[in-house]
Amino acid sequence: MDAAGLSYLRSDEGAAAVAAADRLALTDASLLADVSTVRSLAGPHAPVVIEQVRARRRAAAKLGEVTGWLLTDEAVQQATPAAVAEHRARRLAWLSVHDVTCSIGAELRALVQVCPRVVGSDIDPVRARMAAHNVPRALVYVADALTPTTTADVVIADPARRSGGRRIVDPEQMSPALSALRAAYAGRSLAVKTAPGIDYDGLRRDGFDGEVEIVSLDGGVREACLWSGPVAVPGLTRATVLRSGDTGFEVVSSAPHDVDPGPAGRFLLEPDGAVIRAGLVRHYAARHDLWQLDPHIAYLTGDVVPDGVRGFEVLDEFRFTEKVLRAELRARDVGTVEILTRGAGVDPDVLRKRLKLQGSQAMTVVITRIGREVTAFLTRPTR
Ligand SMILES: C[S@@+](CC[C@H](N)C(=O)[O-])C[C@H]1O[C@@H](n2cnc3c(N)ncnc32)[C@H](O)[C@@H]1O
Repeated sequence: MDAAGLSYLRSDEGAAAVAAADRLALTDASLLADVSTVRSLAGPHAPVVIEQVRARRRAAAKLGEVTGWLLTDEAVQQATPAAVAEHRARRLAWLSVHDVTCSIGAELRALVQVCPRVVGSDIDPVRARMAAHNVPRALVYVADALTPTTTADVVIADPARRSGGRRIVDPEQMSPALSALRAAYAGRSLAVKTAPGIDYDGLRRDGFDGEVEIVSLDGGVREACLWSGPVAVPGLTRATVLRSGDTGFEVVSSAPHDVDPGPAGRFLLEPDGAVIRAGLVRHYAARHDLWQLDPHIAYLTGDVVPDGVRGFEVLDEFRFTEKVLRAELRARDVGTVEILTRGAGVDPDVLRKRLKLQGSQAMTVVITRIGREVTAFLTRPTR
């Protein structure tokens, strides 16, 4: 969207056109008919009006309440989900914060709820104007993130991580790059959001001495946030597990983690992706009286499943071969099988087809390497 489109949307006439267009279905099936209605309302501005209505509808699931917000589809895709932004903001409560890549203001909205002074800036003037409109309680202007313009207690940056439709994982390819941000804000409290798949061990080897926080939301790993300066806990790795409608939890690398692997208990379970990505499987196990089957595999086992976690009650266990598994499942009249596997070199979809099951029962099979052997567990999910 350009500045002219944005000015139209901010006018009374534009706002009325968006409100009227929002009463239309605007689905792929109805679009052809709806476009002529929107043209009669907005003339040449019909495309921006339609984009606005559709972007707001798509944004609602990720960003929550966005009535009256100005957005673009691309900016919504790049935006931090509301639950993740609120989590970060809680950590910064009572501090002054400058979001130096504020885009349309998804993080600013969470920050103004808990921080006394919030500044947002972005190099893109259209996005900066949108953020100013969307979050009037923040001071927003156009600026290059690499030129410090405030003395805020904490600077947060969420550099652009897409280029030509490709997702960028290397923090030096982000815009702006991690090293440039760290140089610009050296010695200050800085939080830089990066791709969840970032090689943070490599970063530590290259001298990053701050805190790494891996964040998941409802089971999906969303980001790695690199904290440095006074706001960070030096050398700490933190897994933050956020769940809608639940308090979630965190696991930190300074927690006890002296847990030996052992044979299967009553249940098996797989820790949240943030815990695995953060390398904190044993820390999580220690906290919940669990243990690993194998020191190199993330599956955990124990006699109790932690609250809110899907576990698998072990019904039987044997050395895995396709032939034995098929016979065991047929003997139990299993026709529907969920296959979970780690470290066993098994492709669940290929195996499921080859099993050719026809029974009436459902079962979950966990296939994993333990030492040098591959073991299959027949299990019943706890939920
Ligand atoms: C991933 S988006 C940020 C999304 C934002 N955190 C949110 O939740 O809506 C990245 C933003 O960085 C901005 N950007 C890229 N390079 C910049 C720079 N050198 N200075 C300031 N902003 C920059 C882009 O214009 C874009 O709006």
